[in-house]
Amino acid sequence: MKKIAVLTSGGDSPGMNACIRAVIRGAIYHGVEAYGIKYGYNGLIEGDIYKMKSYSVSNIIQRGGTILKSARSNEFRTPEGRKKAFYQLQRRGIEGLVVIGGDGTFTGANIFCQEYGVPVVGAPGTIDNDLYGTDFTIGFDTAVNTALNAIDNIRDTANSHDRIFFIEVMGRDSGYIAIESGIGGGAELIMVPETSTSIEDVIHTLGQGRNHEKTSSIVVVAEGDEEGGAIEVAAKVKERLNDKDFKVSILGHIQRGGAPTAMDRILASRLGLAAVEGLLNGKRSMMAGVINNRIVYTEFKECINTSKPLEQDMLRMVKILSI
Ligand code: F6P
Repeated sequence: MKKIAVLTSGGDSPGMNACIRAVIRGAIYHGVEAYGIKYGYNGLIEGDIYKMKSYSVSNIIQRGGTILKSARSNEFRTPEGRKKAFYQLQRRGIEGLVVIGGDGTFTGANIFCQEYGVPVVGAPGTIDNDLYGTDFTIGFDTAVNTALNAIDNIRDTANSHDRIFFIEVMGRDSGYIAIESGIGGGAELIMVPETSTSIEDVIHTLGQGRNHEKTSSIVVVAEGDEEGGAIEVAAKVKERLNDKDFKVSILGHIQRGGAPTAMDRILASRLGLAAVEGLLNGKRSMMAGVINNRIVYTEFKECINTSKPLEQDMLRMVKILSI
């Protein structure tokens, strides 16, 4: 393999730049020409592809976002879109791809591989940490720490005013950010899509806090909880307990930006290099991940089709430690 390209796709995550840097420098180190594709699969379809040198990725390891930009591509979901994408690679003689993203990115890569035989290896870049085949995804640790700082700030004012706060964190289908930021932030209750927590449970927990002379409480709600986001949950609770001062805070996209933590920079560097070396060593349709601190490769189809369960013991711990 003499020419490879890298793209970032789907929701961006802190550490994607460190991963791009590792892919580009890893390729050049092994004597391979490296190309960057802008705007994910959309850029691949449009031919927004340019050659990168070692200096192209200087001074980015510490920066959030992605210098290659990102997109969620509808066109790549179509056979016509993928045909155009293949043509763009073929005319440049690019023989392999590294894709950095989440399950949508790998679903696209897997189909592309099957249809055109293009070798693709992935690196998990998403704040959600919801990918099977790796203990951590690139950006998760930074997002948790961003959410945690916000929870700490909110706790100060919640305490001063004896208020109950419902804090919404990201995670459409996944409660990892909620669980870790909630535990780190000492939340009274954490609501996640993976387990069902009824409004009755919320009322019970808040009542228990009051009985134990707590004057303020923090409930962390993952945006995809089955009872709704923080606004809906707070409204439902207020219908039943209207004597209390409730506030809602939605952390939103601040969780997606910012300088990556040391953990994310190191993880991204390891996985970027593992992805490019995997590609050069014949890995196909696989994601590089880290399990028990070791690099492992898992087939895209397994990463996409297997869910990564939350550690139930973490939820049990919240109940015990929040009394
Ligand atoms: O997948 C990452 C993520 O940040 C989710 O947590 C969130 O639900 C979603 O992306 C938001 O996507 P967008 O920025 O496209 O609204």
